Amino acid sequence: MTALALIGAPGSGKSTVGPLLAARLGVPFVDVDAVIESRQGREIRDIFADDGEPAFRVLERDVTLELLAGDGVVSLGGGAPLTPEIADALAAVPTVWLQVDARNAVKRIGLDEGRPLLAGGGVRATLIKLLNARTPVYRRLADIEIDTNGREPDALADAVLAAL
Ligand code: S3P
Repeated sequence: MTALALIGAPGSGKSTVGPLLAARLGVPFVDVDAVIESRQGREIRDIFADDGEPAFRVLERDVTLELLAGDGVVSLGGGAPLTPEIADALAAVPTVWLQVDARNAVKRIGLDEGRPLLAGGGVRATLIKLLNARTPVYRRLADIEIDTNGREPDALADAVLAAL
């Protein structure tokens, strides 16, 4: 098997659905943000705070390209598909977009100020802006689109499996 990519906004359920899907497929699950954090020995929010977003995007690009060249279900950071090299790599692997509306993304995330891009400006307003900018990119890159709104993780993993 090649990698299978999960893309979508923060709060779309990538980190929850990903492991369930990987278990059903009998393949490993890898979360790009978790790999970056473990290699860097610090949290994403600290990388943003210490080094800035551009430096994070370089780390993200390198780790994402490496993991997409491997096996298993790979959960990408919400902003990763906007990096051109990552978009090119996604064209070569099955890519599943977990689509979520802002209202449901906020419900899943809560008021999690730990996500650096959502900190400070009001989670809901920021998510709406992110979704407006990114939805066309997610749609263009996805082979499979799954509507996650109002659905539980197990049902979503089943839906992805049925769509593969
Ligand atoms: C980001 C989403 C985060 C993380 C970083 C940037 C984004 O991942 O990569 O904070 O640009 O939307 P999740 O999508 O897992 O929250």
